[in-house]
Amino acid sequence: MTGLTRATPRDPFWVSPPAALMLAGDEVHVWRVDVRSAYARRNDLWRVLAKDERQKATDLVFEGDRKRFVVSRGVLRVLLGRYLRAQPGSLVFGYNPYGKPFLVGAPGVRFSTSHSHDLVLLAFVRDRDIGVDVEHLRDDLGLDEIASRHFATREVATLRSLTNSSRKEAFFACWTRKEAFVKAKGRGLTLPFSRFEVTLTPGQPAMLLKVEEDIREPFRWAMQELIPGPGYAAALVVDEHNLRSSCWQYTG
Ligand SMILES: CC(C)(COP(=O)(O)OP(=O)(O)OC[C@H]1O[C@@H](n2cnc3c(N)ncnc32)[C@H](O)[C@@H]1OP(=O)(O)O)[C@@H](O)C(=O)NCCC(=O)NCCS
Repeated sequence: MTGLTRATPRDPFWVSPPAALMLAGDEVHVWRVDVRSAYARRNDLWRVLAKDERQKATDLVFEGDRKRFVVSRGVLRVLLGRYLRAQPGSLVFGYNPYGKPFLVGAPGVRFSTSHSHDLVLLAFVRDRDIGVDVEHLRDDLGLDEIASRHFATREVATLRSLTNSSRKEAFFACWTRKEAFVKAKGRGLTLPFSRFEVTLTPGQPAMLLKVEEDIREPFRWAMQELIPGPGYAAALVVDEHNLRSSCWQYTG
């Protein structure tokens, strides 16, 4: 197992993308989108959304959710259009039984999306299962209670062994790694968080350690910590170890 290798420099983590986008078979591209700046061009994004997506945006009660949805779906369409040399508004999405979206008619390119607070992350790969998750590090959650209810026994013990100052970071590292794995598998809540283990100790590389239902799973999946910026945690999961990941900043 070798994991994912970063193709772009670690510092800065998110760099400007090339003008012409090419997604090779051994690459993963992750895009960071600032919701506030992307939403400033909401009319352009709204124009590329399908009818059902506009309806979903309209039905969202909270303004923050609406902005995140318009930005994540709109930019997803814009980027897929650039990868596929297609009109963003012409793309059609289907959904698996658990709600995971996929592209109809262009099965080669797969993607995963995540949004939290002011950030959207979008990840793309060819012919692989992929999951990305970003979380805003909140202070208003009962972290110990959520961990005891949802995490695996060993993860809870690791969390309890940490100092207060590193516990929050470890909790969100664990949470995003688990969400990214569940999203890559595309099975939603049918894969409980307590049935698989990931690394969470600060400084330890992101890794899938154990999956109760199949001991071969950690050999199949590569996991990478993403550094989305202050106050956020994020993770990427893909079912191939020898890929190069690039992290691009979306500027429109
Ligand atoms: C569906 C789910 C994956 C969404 O995750 P989230 O952290 O709430 O939200 P994110 O912003 O990260 O991801 C949302 C995106 O995931 C995608 N998505 C939806 N269902 C999905 C699924 N089954 N698999 C993968 N991706 C999915 C969509 O693209 C969605 O974007 P959209 O809202 O713009 O359509 C999540 O709610 C879920 O099922 N989690 C299960 C994990 C679990 O067991 N939790 C227990 C503790 S409460």
